[in-house]
Amino acid sequence: MLNRRTLLKSAALLATTPTSLLSHAAFSQTQNSPLITKAIPSTGEKIPVIGIGTNRYGVGNNPTAMAPLKETLARFAAYGGKLIDTAPSYGSSESVIGNLVEQLDFKDQFFIATKCDRSGGQETQTQINSSTNKLKSGSLDLVSVHNMRNWQKNLPILREAKAAKKIRYLGITTSRSSQYSDMANILESESLDFIQVNYSLADREAEKRILKLAADKGVAVVANLTFGRGSLFSAVKGHEIPTWAAEFDATSWARLFLKYVVSHPAITCAIPGTTKIHHLEDNIGAAMGRLPNAEQRQQIEVFYNTLKV
Ligand SMILES: NC(=O)c1ccc[n+]([C@@H]2O[C@H](COP(=O)([O-])OP(=O)(O)OC[C@H]3O[C@@H](n4cnc5c(N)ncnc54)[C@H](OP(=O)(O)O)[C@@H]3O)[C@@H](O)[C@H]2O)c1
Repeated sequence: MLNRRTLLKSAALLATTPTSLLSHAAFSQTQNSPLITKAIPSTGEKIPVIGIGTNRYGVGNNPTAMAPLKETLARFAAYGGKLIDTAPSYGSSESVIGNLVEQLDFKDQFFIATKCDRSGGQETQTQINSSTNKLKSGSLDLVSVHNMRNWQKNLPILREAKAAKKIRYLGITTSRSSQYSDMANILESESLDFIQVNYSLADREAEKRILKLAADKGVAVVANLTFGRGSLFSAVKGHEIPTWAAEFDATSWARLFLKYVVSHPAITCAIPGTTKIHHLEDNIGAAMGRLPNAEQRQQIEVFYNTLKV
């Protein structure tokens, strides 16, 4: 349930956003729609199962380009959303998020995940400090080694930063199955809070080893590319959502795709790339109502396979 302070801030924000597509009726609905959460295994802290990916938030200081992103983040906050995924390599995304979160005054609510990709030593330290400054945060919630780049040098730096309370969680990311073997080796040998991996209805390779290993090791999993960079929507174009999707409250293709992802027991949170408020409204609905059970997940897979995409 949203707390009173968040609700008051959200209501005030929405009231002063004349260009907003948000309706007050939709807003009041959020008060009674707590988001489904899952626990981060290493601490038990709970986060909603739908977050936001921001690799297209690098719009610099352009107020026109920032306005829809601000509305999207404001709406995300109003629903009780938390996890925002960014990276130093996403252009100015970190700075844009830092500025918008400050303007929205929701810093305490969001869980901001960023990454590091330098060669270790002072370079990585400098990058983490830069992310902290750009995100205008005293400490970072999660820093992961981007695509496991120089992980042997970067993980010890992240451990030191965690011990010094500069970051709260650490992890590694990939979006390519060619890196799964390395990811599995790191999961076996290192202590991690999080991994981030590509997982969608069209891309289930991670199930074979990575997701099982993460669950066994008590590591939280963030799923990226949950829409296959948008290609899943093309795959179902012209097809109606099956009527049985209503049994787990999936009323749009986006909700069906996301509910499929977050109903995997090993997945903690999905981060669909979301720059438009109507997409946010759609996606956040996947964190409400029922999730598909094991049998319904199979039904979704069979249905998707028959589309012969
Ligand atoms: N190695 C890594 O660590 C790594 C690699 C890749 C990605 N990532 C992370 O994962 C995030 C997601 O990746 P992605 O954005 O490339 O791919 P994605 O989430 O699979 O797809 C995003 C695309 O789907 C569209 N979309 C979102 N919601 C929709 C809806 N309800 N209906 C129709 N279309 C919708 C988006 O449009 P709009 O933008 O117009 O809303 C965008 O074009 C990234 O932002 C990044 O944070 C990490």
